[in-house]
Amino acid sequence: MNNDIVIRGFGRYAPENVLTNADLEKMVDTSDEWIVTRTGVKERRIVSEGQFTSDLATEAARMALKNAGMEADEITHIIVGTFTPDHLVPSCACSVEQKLGIKEKAAFDIAAACSGFLYALEMGRALLTLHPEAKILAIGAEVVTHRVNFTDRTTCVLFGDGAGAAVLTKGGQGPKLMDVKLATDGNLGSLLTVSGGGCASTYKPGDTIRDDYFVMLQGREVFKHAVRSMTSICNEILEANGLTNKDVDVLLPHQANWRIIDAVGRKFEIEPEKVYSNVDRFGNTSAASVPLALSEAVDTGFIKDGDLVMLTSFGGGFTWASALLQF
Ligand code: ACO
Repeated sequence: MNNDIVIRGFGRYAPENVLTNADLEKMVDTSDEWIVTRTGVKERRIVSEGQFTSDLATEAARMALKNAGMEADEITHIIVGTFTPDHLVPSCACSVEQKLGIKEKAAFDIAAACSGFLYALEMGRALLTLHPEAKILAIGAEVVTHRVNFTDRTTCVLFGDGAGAAVLTKGGQGPKLMDVKLATDGNLGSLLTVSGGGCASTYKPGDTIRDDYFVMLQGREVFKHAVRSMTSICNEILEANGLTNKDVDVLLPHQANWRIIDAVGRKFEIEPEKVYSNVDRFGNTSAASVPLALSEAVDTGFIKDGDLVMLTSFGGGFTWASALLQF
């Protein structure tokens, strides 16, 4: 048996409801021109009433399983990167297990904000080293709009909902997960927060929701750190693997906003046509953004056999990460 860790199938799901910039113009003092110039986002998907993170995650998982040619019951571990689980308890991964109609697997969530999917990939890699026969479902899924204040124009234009998934095994057909690098700097945590409801910012019965219930960020600081950290962790993983940016065929960064994606591409010194982005159609879907874009880039042929693909992400914590995939 080939001992490489491979991705057997990718999947994605985005809710059907589309929220356009024109819709947002009716909700807050903003304009399509401002949003597109500052973020590149034209529209984003949002859940309908009664549709939860685990529903999006389960749809993405079903697609990944189908593409892997596997039955749900073959899965041994479910890992979901999310900061917007349906509940604090049970975890989103437990709900996905239930919705897939399976049981007695190992299922847990990872809290690494927008880097959640790459953290899930690394946990999958570690588990496969311990349990070579395991079959891992790694998912990034969010209903970010649940934690977005739609009266705050500085944040509500940025985000959308979605999910992406991958099935990992040791050996078998599929792109090889060559390496993953993870990093965190908790000193910078206060620059991007969702605090309300945590034990440091509690709610009593009858309290009205405060602003801290929603995503709060210092945009310019986040921007600066996101560009710097994603570029440096991409260079670190290349160096560790004896590669250079010239070897990379596709750069697929976290879809935070177009200016960040563009700046990472420039700093990484890669041709713009090698950088994948769908932020114009989905906005920032946090942990879902990398697997959603990856699944799309594979299906549309943007990523081809033989390509070396660099994934990178950055999010609250701050957390950041990179991964190398050899197709
Ligand atoms: N519509 C119109 N005007 C707006 C809007 C809006 N939606 N939002 C802010 N403005 C105004 C501000 O009030 C400000 O007005 P003022 O000059 O009169 O005070 C002006 O536009 C400029 O505001 P800035 O915040 O300085 O705008 P900036 O150019 O920095 O762009 C943005 C803001 C898009 C958030 C940018 O800082 C950014 O991209 N930051 C990265 C953060 C990010 O993408 N976070 C995503 C989550 S984190 C993650 O995924 C890693």
